[in-house]
Amino acid sequence: MIDIEEFGIHEGISEVILSTISPEGVPNAAPIGLHLKDIKFSARIYNSKTLDNILSNQTAAANIVDDPFLFVQSALADVERGKFEFTDKFPVLKDALGWIMFDCRCRKGENISVVELSPVRSKILKRKIVPVNRGFNAVIEATVHATRFVVLKEQQYLDKINYYNTIVQKCGSQGDKDAMKLLFDLIRS
Ligand SMILES: Cc1cc2nc3c(=O)[nH]c(=O)nc-3n(C[C@H](O)[C@H](O)[C@H](O)COP(=O)(O)O)c2cc1C
Repeated sequence: MIDIEEFGIHEGISEVILSTISPEGVPNAAPIGLHLKDIKFSARIYNSKTLDNILSNQTAAANIVDDPFLFVQSALADVERGKFEFTDKFPVLKDALGWIMFDCRCRKGENISVVELSPVRSKILKRKIVPVNRGFNAVIEATVHATRFVVLKEQQYLDKINYYNTIVQKCGSQGDKDAMKLLFDLIRS
């Protein structure tokens, strides 16, 4: 039995980086909202590599991550193999604060699928006190809009990214600012 609160996870949606593996053994990572309601975990996943991997291998690991660069990179590009480590042949992120591995049951939809997640194993790697920082939170918001911008190319998303960038520049750490630079580089490429 996993003590969810030990992972800082409460009812609502926690933003994690989900790691999965392809049939060819290629690890993948992408930010996904981990829903918790009535002691049940689930995710709503649009058609993506993450969904393809879950459909072929019904396992996923929710990596609890506080690295803004990794959020941007995994949302908009591939994460290099060196950033993963393998536990029982399944990839998790080396820099995660902790991870929860799940068995997945997928209800496939046309564009979006609902995945029910049953925890099977978990590990806490680092315990940290993390004060609320608007800069880090703004990187996460900007990255959500960036994932929409790269698909839909609408100005409204760029406007939102620019708005959140002003908060990152005012309140963020150097790591947050480096993550925003990566975000702009990736959406322009
Ligand atoms: C904070 C955050 C939360 C996200 N949550 C979800 C989600 O719950 N479901 C989803 O399908 N995409 C979500 N995304 C978008 C995916 O991460 C994005 O589409 C990604 O490129 C998918 O990568 P993949 O093709 O490697 O799986 C989220 C992005 C961010 C930045």
